[in-house]
Amino acid sequence: MGKLDGQLAIITGGAQGIGEGACKAFCDEGATVAMWDVLDGEPAVEKIRADGGDIFYQKVDITAKVQIESAVSVIVEKYGRIDILINNAGIIRDKSFLKMSEDEWNAVLNVNLSGTFNCCKIVAPVMKEAGYGRIINTSSINGLVGAFGQTNYAASKAGLIGFTKSLAKELGKYNITVNAVAPGFIKSEMSDSMPQEVIDAGVAMIPVGRIGMPEDIAHGYLYLASKEAGFVSAFTLSVNGGALPI
Ligand SMILES: NC(=O)c1ccc[n+]([C@@H]2O[C@H](COP(=O)([O-])OP(=O)(O)OC[C@H]3O[C@@H](n4cnc5c(N)ncnc54)[C@H](O)[C@@H]3O)[C@@H](O)[C@H]2O)c1
Repeated sequence: MGKLDGQLAIITGGAQGIGEGACKAFCDEGATVAMWDVLDGEPAVEKIRADGGDIFYQKVDITAKVQIESAVSVIVEKYGRIDILINNAGIIRDKSFLKMSEDEWNAVLNVNLSGTFNCCKIVAPVMKEAGYGRIINTSSINGLVGAFGQTNYAASKAGLIGFTKSLAKELGKYNITVNAVAPGFIKSEMSDSMPQEVIDAGVAMIPVGRIGMPEDIAHGYLYLASKEAGFVSAFTLSVNGGALPI
């Protein structure tokens, strides 16, 4: 018996990294998972199915509202419910501010912040109708403290915290909780793309003495997505190995 038996969870950006780890963890708890990504998610889906997971891939770009609408209608027609939305998809386009182009600014805000808005906008009415929902948005430690070369990314991730708190106030009366997870430094394709000295410096600042793994974040998502977390809303859960006292 899993804690999420019978529940339907959408996980965006699920084809790799933290999202893939989350898809596996949610399947292990008995959820049916709709994995959304712009990348091909079938290789990850096959691996998770081989372990008994109930998961399917939908090619969805979260900046494209029509794609979200059509994926949601397929889910609602087949399963009649969406219990959990994990807004995990995100991108970086790092550049120091004086060198950053408007395109690099817009790309990051568009995916990280507006993409999350789009998914919530289209999924929340389904949850409202059901009188139940768990929405989890993915912020970042860098949205809390800022980071050199990430004015665009930090702004998007800080924006998600204000968005989360406000949406929680609006949707609470429908028995929908809205929370954020702020990962610290986590091993994934995103962090692998950073220079080694940046990785080493990041790990040196983590009290538990290691880089985080996708599963570490997946467990944060799982807690906030659980029925037991029904009295937790508008909260930002830092999962960062103690890197910040927040
Ligand atoms: N890795 C870290 O250290 C770290 C730290 C803090 C926060 N985060 C956040 O955690 C989340 C997952 O990060 P990750 O490290 O696994 O990154 P990742 O790059 O490995 O995975 C992100 C996934 O999002 C998908 N994606 C990107 N744009 C999309 C779009 N428009 N529509 C749908 N899918 C899209 C990508 O294809 C990819 O599969 C992101 O929101 C990221 O900002 C990561």
